[in-house]
Amino acid sequence: MNVIFLSPSYPFEMQDYVRGLAEVGANVYAVGEGPLPEKVRPFIHDYLHVPQLFNEKDLMQRVCSWAQNKNIQRVEALWEPLMMVAAHIRKKLRIPGMSPDVVLGFRDKSIMKKRVEKAGLRVPYAFRCKTSTEIEEAAEKIGFPVIVKPIAGAGSADTYRVDSAQQLQKILPLVRHVQEVSCEEFVDGREFTYDTVCVNGKPRYENVAEYLPRPLIARSNEWISPVIITVKDLHASHLQKGLKLGHGVLKALNMGDGFTHMEWYLTKKGEVVFGEIGCRPGGAHLVDQMNFTSDIDLFREWARAVCWKDVRIEKPRQYNVAIIFKRAMGKGRIHTITGLKKFLKQYHSAVMVENLLKPGQLRRDWKQTLVSDGFIILRHHNWDVTKHLAEKVSTDIQLFAR
Ligand SMILES: Nc1ncnc2c1ncn2[C@@H]1O[C@H](COP(=O)(O)OP(=O)(O)OP(=O)(O)O)[C@@H](O)[C@H]1O
Ligand SMILES: [Mg+2]
Repeated sequence: MNVIFLSPSYPFEMQDYVRGLAEVGANVYAVGEGPLPEKVRPFIHDYLHVPQLFNEKDLMQRVCSWAQNKNIQRVEALWEPLMMVAAHIRKKLRIPGMSPDVVLGFRDKSIMKKRVEKAGLRVPYAFRCKTSTEIEEAAEKIGFPVIVKPIAGAGSADTYRVDSAQQLQKILPLVRHVQEVSCEEFVDGREFTYDTVCVNGKPRYENVAEYLPRPLIARSNEWISPVIITVKDLHASHLQKGLKLGHGVLKALNMGDGFTHMEWYLTKKGEVVFGEIGCRPGGAHLVDQMNFTSDIDLFREWARAVCWKDVRIEKPRQYNVAIIFKRAMGKGRIHTITGLKKFLKQYHSAVMVENLLKPGQLRRDWKQTLVSDGFIILRHHNWDVTKHLAEKVSTDIQLFAR
């Protein structure tokens, strides 16, 4: 099995997927911009060094001519900005896998919602808007509160909750630089993920995680330590409609093989509403969390799914796994961390990863990266205990910078 894999070293978790491919017996033909890190070299069969990974035309030409006579059977990418070009290369080389049209349904939020809605599934009431007047008219039709967000957004950037016409006037100048926005009904409630590894569009692995608090709130307030917890018990009654929605979405978008990462809302009345979906894994260490949930290796099982249409996971879900992202107080370099030693001593058996910045290191931009100034991953069999420990990390561990 000869597999082309785009961007083998960045983002860093790509290195684990390369390892996974090699472990299931694939010859990895990697394509990337920089030099190959030591860690991935043993798993790579051949490497095409390209000048610009994001010059689509140039990348296609180089990859397609390099692929000649190599008997390539798969072309894979797991980094969102490369999903589309991977599909175009597949098409040009006549290689099986998801077509550009299918991938588009996972990339373009508006096409995505139309396809999901057409399947009879609940999506937020929304309008595409290019001018301030269009936004005002949309908000009028929908009724406040509304969400204004970019059609092609990521990381909650330029996303606003607007509660009144007055407030809208303040928001309009802030989104003027965005080419096209979606003005939509604000769906109030809890926010979850639905993650899968699929074979022929059927989930062979499933996961649900809850965001605490909702991403927009966590991404707008620096003092918050955002928490995401995978739910051990997928049979929990409050998740059933969400899982059903997830299955419907996979079908509506004609999913093929590989990872999906969906976001959905659960309202107080018990209604489930679709948020968005990608045909790639969730970022910010969600795959590590899923691995810790059952002590499995999804980097390898993803590879098995795309190469051999098989997934071998027999282990049950044993833990709720929380990740807690920390943001330091102050600007500049970290100089003190309080509460960490005590927490680690008391709860060492629950802590899987401690990856906080160390004194002397420069703070990261919390607006740019959810990982912020580092994170802790912990787990427990009991949901309430997991949530309690995550809250303790939020409140009892503090980083200070100056
Ligand atoms: N219609 C809506 N109703 C309520 N909240 C919403 C709505 N749309 C977006 N949000 C909030 O804004 C956040 C970001 O929106 P969305 O997930 O659509 O965009 P994104 O920027 O691609 O997100 P990500 O952070 O996953 O990259 C959501 O997680 C949710 O908290
Ligand atoms: Mg999102």
